[in-house]
Amino acid sequence: MEIVATTTQSNDDLTPDFKLFLEESQIPYVPRQKSSLSRIQAEYQVQAVIVWEPSGPVMYINDTKFFFHPSMAKVRISACRKNNLMDPLVQACELKPKDHFLDCTLGLGADAIVASYFSPRGKVVGVESSIAVSHIVKWGMQLYKSNMPWLQEAIERVRVINQDHNQYLKDLDDNSYDIVYFDPMFRNPLLNSQAISPLREVANSAPLSEDAVLQACRVARRKVVIKERKGSSEFQRLNCTSVRGSTNNKVAYGIINTH
Ligand SMILES: C[S@@+](CC[C@H](N)C(=O)[O-])C[C@H]1O[C@@H](n2cnc3c(N)ncnc32)[C@H](O)[C@@H]1O
Repeated sequence: MEIVATTTQSNDDLTPDFKLFLEESQIPYVPRQKSSLSRIQAEYQVQAVIVWEPSGPVMYINDTKFFFHPSMAKVRISACRKNNLMDPLVQACELKPKDHFLDCTLGLGADAIVASYFSPRGKVVGVESSIAVSHIVKWGMQLYKSNMPWLQEAIERVRVINQDHNQYLKDLDDNSYDIVYFDPMFRNPLLNSQAISPLREVANSAPLSEDAVLQACRVARRKVVIKERKGSSEFQRLNCTSVRGSTNNKVAYGIINTH
């Protein structure tokens, strides 16, 4: 997908953060010069335009906006804090406070932030292959300011890496993480999933490879966990040894215990 990045109409400054974003992402910069986004799109023949806004980068694509916001993570963690409910991801992974958690499909980062909250003395790394998604989420996380220290700290602990997990996993040592987690784009999407809708336009929707799961089993000290639609044949294809779900949840977690 062809993408360019620009400033807002009211502020043409290239701030140091924006320059760093452009350098890291290698997304071409175009001067705004008060143009509308549709004009920029037509002039540069691109499908999407990223605007550097004070709160972080926002990508405009096909009438939708894609930007980082921790709303889903906040709702999930709040439910655990207020009602003493355990999050299904945390249950499936049996996460412990010092765990090292590798999220191989970062997306909007909700799962990584939840894992980070429950592993405050461990580490969380999120790998994302889409250039736009990884850099927007990385900078969105970096610039996000919450008045809730527990949320702010959980976001700050997530380290974002732009790479395909098929390659990233190959380069890791054996047993270097406690949990390796995958949440690929579902083979049969849940069409009303609001949280994922803007992501669909830009995400890598390739199926999870058997080789990635094999590599993950080598890297994970305790578990490889795969999220999919409840009843998906992916759990069998990817050799999960058990599947964990609940009656009122449309998704389930395939689990491979590695030790
Ligand atoms: C369903 S989303 C993940 C949502 C995420 N768990 C969350 O809580 O926001 C799947 C993400 O994985 C990314 N992805 C798919 N295949 C990948 C790969 N081979 N390497 C890295 N990221 C990949 C997609 O681009 C997409 O952003």
